[in-house]
This record gives sequence, C-alpha cells and structure tokens, in this order.
Amino acid sequence: MSDLPPAGRLLDWYDRYARDLPWRVPPLSGARADPYRVWLSEIMLQQTGVAVVRDYFHRFIARWPDVHALARAPEADVLAEWAGLGYYARARNLVKCARMVSAELGGVFPSEHNDLLKLPGIGPYTAAAIAAIAFGQPETVVDGNVERVMARLFCVEEPLPAAKPALRAHAARLTPRTRPGDYAQAVMDLGATICTPARPDCPACPWRSACKAHARGIQETLPRRAPRPAKPIRHGRVWIARRADGAWLMERRPAKGLLGGMLGWPGGAWEKTSADSPPPIRADWRALDEQVRHTFTHFHLILSVSIATVPIGTTPDHGFFMPVPEFRPTDLPSVMRKAYKLAAAAIASNPAPL
Ligand code: ADE
Repeated sequence: MSDLPPAGRLLDWYDRYARDLPWRVPPLSGARADPYRVWLSEIMLQQTGVAVVRDYFHRFIARWPDVHALARAPEADVLAEWAGLGYYARARNLVKCARMVSAELGGVFPSEHNDLLKLPGIGPYTAAAIAAIAFGQPETVVDGNVERVMARLFCVEEPLPAAKPALRAHAARLTPRTRPGDYAQAVMDLGATICTPARPDCPACPWRSACKAHARGIQETLPRRAPRPAKPIRHGRVWIARRADGAWLMERRPAKGLLGGMLGWPGGAWEKTSADSPPPIRADWRALDEQVRHTFTHFHLILSVSIATVPIGTTPDHGFFMPVPEFRPTDLPSVMRKAYKLAAAAIASNPAPL
C-alpha cells in the first residue's frame, strides 16, 4: 500500500470544481487544450494572478487568435496590449517565440519539455505546464500554489526557498501518468481555492485525511519562509510636456532593462538618493507637490513629476511628440500611467496660458 495521497481523489474533486478559465477545456470533455492558448496563458500567469490575466487573455485572443497572427504583429502593438501586466521582457519574448513557432515550426508548438525549453521566454515551469496541459505529458508543474500544498501535505517545516527541491520531489512523486494536465491544474486550483495561504478551507479539501500538517494543526503556519530583505527606495523624476495641439512628449525606453521597450515619460535614471535629470525640452516647468509611488520586484520607487506646456514648433532634446489620436494611457506601464494621471489632473485644474 502506498502512503501517498491518491491523485484520483484530487481528480474527482477537479471534475466537480475545476475553475472555468478561458484557456482551459473542461475536465471530462475529451477535448485537447489549444497549445497556443495554453502557452499564452502560462506566460501571462508566470508573475500575475488569474483574476488579472483573464481580461488580458481575452483581449489578446480576440486580437491575435492564433500563433501566426501574433507572429505578424508589430512588437509595439503587443507591448501596448501587455501594458499594465508588468515584467515586459515576457511580452518581448512572447513576440520572438510566436515568430519562431510560426516561421520555423509551421505554427506547431513542440510537445516535449526539452524542445519547449529552446523557445524564447519558456523556462522549466512553463515547459512543464505546456507539456502536461496541452500534450498530456506526465510532467510535474510546480508554482507557488503547488509548493504550499506540498509543504502542508508532507508537513515540510524547512523554510522557502531552501525547501524548494524537497517540495518539488514530493510533487514529482505524486504526479500520475493518467490525466497529468488535469492533475497539474487540479493542484493549482486546490492551492488557489481551498489550500489558500490564510484560512485554508480544510473541511472542503479532498486531501484532508492525508494531510500531515492538518493532522498536527499547523497548516496555516506552512510553508515557512526565510525573512526577505527590505526593499530599498529609489528616486527619480519624469518630465511631462504637453504641446499646444495636445500632443505629449514621450520616449520609448531602451529595449533592455526595466520596462524595456515600453513607452514612457522622459526622465533620468532612478537612483538611491534623489537624483535629477535635465529636462528634455526648454519650457517653464512646474514641479508637482504630489509624487508617484510604485513598487517593483526589487525596490520601491518615488517619482517626482514636473509638467509644462510648450508651443508648437518647440524641438525636444530627446523624445518625440505623440499626437492626440495615437495617445492611449492604457498603452503605458502602470508607473507611467500613474504619473500621467497626476499630470493630467494638474493640467486640467490649472491650464497654463498658451
Ligand atoms: N496558474 C498558472 N497556470 C495555471 C493554470 N493553468 N490554471 C490555474 N492556475 C494557474
């Protein structure tokens, strides 16, 4: 007799309670998930929750229904559609990957983990998820939800991140050869809906009787986590100039690095101490009292905002004027959208004479 919690009991639970997500096929429908949809959703889900990804996924699929359509898209259009999701290297790799699959693989995603790993933006997690969900391969898919479920099920008290290999080994031992795609999604759903970080709903859990942490009553304390170092604070300034015809002075950020390739407001580097950059155009600049606060993975940013209105014919030292019909705040990454909101409100409440 195995002492492992039975995968079958979790699959029975999934058959009844699987979340209805737009990239999924319902369990027991007999249908195979579309690899393009699985790939797109898994890239989006790498650092972002299901609730946010849903809307982005619908918009992407409506605009680019298959990998060939996405491969034909200009990178700037994809970055604009991705704006607000963060981690913009994902979007640039998304375009590269679509072009590779479209041009070199006839639009067919590879089904093997090792072949998937050769594609841009696909790491071990995403390769395993696509191989299992789209191609039925018995791959083990481990994300934060799965780590939490394993830590509790096997009562792993070693803190993360050191516990990662042990948690992965537990997850691998449990992965069944039948319905591995449904199984992978079932563990993720269990972690997202029942085995939640706070106040898990143990009475509803199909694995409760096998759960070692539950038996000891310490499920809410797991997984343990080594304390994370506090995030440093960085400072910066953006210069937001509006021309008399309504056009905005903008720049496209360098392809590499934070917010790489995204549209934004001109400004200098973000430094530990308050550092100022020269303005991008001669104008009567006004510094706003209010600042933008935004948190990135590795630091908090405090961004000062200066605004100006400039006459037609003024030439910027750098950046370009974006005409009104082309300017959409939703094309901006979140931090630049916050700066825009401050500037637009200040300009509206105190329009300078032009
Ligand atoms: N998180 C990442 N991938 C997921 C999926 N396929 N289903 C549910 N949650 C997920």
